[in-house]
Amino acid sequence: MSKSIARMTIDPQYQLADVDPRLFGSFIEHLGRAVYGGIYEPDHPSADEMGFRQDVLELVRELQVPIVRYPGGNFVSGYRWEDGVGPLASRPAQLDLAWRSLEPNRVGVNEFVEWAKRANSEVMMAVNLGTRGIDEAKQIVEYCNHPGGSYWSDLRKSHGYEQPHGIKVWCLGNEMDGPWQIGHKTAEEYGRIAEEAAKVMKWVDPSIELVACGSSGSKMPTFPDWERIVLEHTYDHVEYISMHSYYGNRENDLATYLAQSLDMDHFIRSVIATCDYVKAKKRSKKTINISFDEWNVWFHSNEADKQVAPWQVGPPLLEDVYTFEDALVVGCLLITLLRHADRVKMACLAQLVNVIAPIMTENGGVSWKQTIYYPFLHASRYGRGKVMHCSLQSPKYDCKEFTDVPLVESVAVWNQDIAELTIFAVNRSQDGGIELECDIRGFAQASVIEHTVLVHSDLKAANTKEEPQEVIPQHAQGAKVDGGLLFAPLPKLSWNVIRLRV
Ligand code: AHR
Repeated sequence: MSKSIARMTIDPQYQLADVDPRLFGSFIEHLGRAVYGGIYEPDHPSADEMGFRQDVLELVRELQVPIVRYPGGNFVSGYRWEDGVGPLASRPAQLDLAWRSLEPNRVGVNEFVEWAKRANSEVMMAVNLGTRGIDEAKQIVEYCNHPGGSYWSDLRKSHGYEQPHGIKVWCLGNEMDGPWQIGHKTAEEYGRIAEEAAKVMKWVDPSIELVACGSSGSKMPTFPDWERIVLEHTYDHVEYISMHSYYGNRENDLATYLAQSLDMDHFIRSVIATCDYVKAKKRSKKTINISFDEWNVWFHSNEADKQVAPWQVGPPLLEDVYTFEDALVVGCLLITLLRHADRVKMACLAQLVNVIAPIMTENGGVSWKQTIYYPFLHASRYGRGKVMHCSLQSPKYDCKEFTDVPLVESVAVWNQDIAELTIFAVNRSQDGGIELECDIRGFAQASVIEHTVLVHSDLKAANTKEEPQEVIPQHAQGAKVDGGLLFAPLPKLSWNVIRLRV
């Protein structure tokens, strides 16, 4: 039988874009056990003086997450941020209608800024444009970013935060196109309020960057008119439009599931086209970029969530236990985001702890890495530098939703500072290994540093509290450079990271 081969060429002359490190962002929402029982658990043996779990912080720091979106998500559309600042004793417990939970307001803006510092991250702050409006959006920017001498900035100081937080990136609401959203709006209604909120937020602090809400998914009936109308209003006032997308293997159809990144790719191209249509219509010189600020696999927990009793603090919601096949899909999604690094400048893996997350915890107990932790870790660690134009020729397959799905999905990132070229590749083949043959003659004296692979004989294998190391990366053998060509065997159904010294 002839060997299956995928061929790629990477040339130092053909560079797509610098990767904005914020492509490896994540998300903490006041939802389920993300905050209470996740990042914050004052009674936990590892808790620091502010109640933050050190074991969780260590796992987050290892991922090198440069920016974390907060505090929602659907939660933000009913949130009163003032309830979460000042003395703990006077903070009210509120009903969170988005997730039918009880929000005790033990953690708020100031605590989260402090947590993010400890995680070596910045905060991407969302404002409530569901139940609230221009005034509250202006007030939270003033509270967080104004140096002092005004009511809201002096209030921050009185709460013990003398220096402004300097939060740079702000989201103008969340998924305002969704009927499930508190304060759901039409594109016209949202476009107008986002435009006016954006104006005053930038009058308070002209250095901030703003993200307008795009569609909450490519299947929304209002997509892409939503983007067009929203941008017609907000174009001059924002830097980014958001994208959200979640995937799942509901029908247990592996071939289709593994191809979901083609949907993400198509969605990104469509949003770019819509942004550029509005740019042309406005005769603008400015380019709007993308903040893909919610993406992940999300489906395992859907049924269990229906059984969770309402009005609890930190209920076990959206606790997907990720399998090996989910990690392959996450790998393909990361490759897709990297391949659009010229326009996708920020992205947030939704979410970070317990809630559809790479990190899981037990209340009062241990924490561990889910399968999806590893592709995200590798991309975040080795995916910084310049994304290269890679001409990839791979054998293809057809499945229920897609035709011409490449069996190999791949991208390369060149980090000139440390003289490394990293190739990320997923082999989607269910039939066998594929040899990746990569022409790298443009890079003098390339040599393989290491080939890391995530592979498992059971597609449904998962990491659990009992078996936290069931699915972990391994060193692969056989990758070599010969005569300017890299030869790397990609095992059947595998995530691969091939690092080269160049
Ligand atoms: O990440 C979980 C939820 O998914 C978010 O709250 C919402 O924005 C999206 O629908």
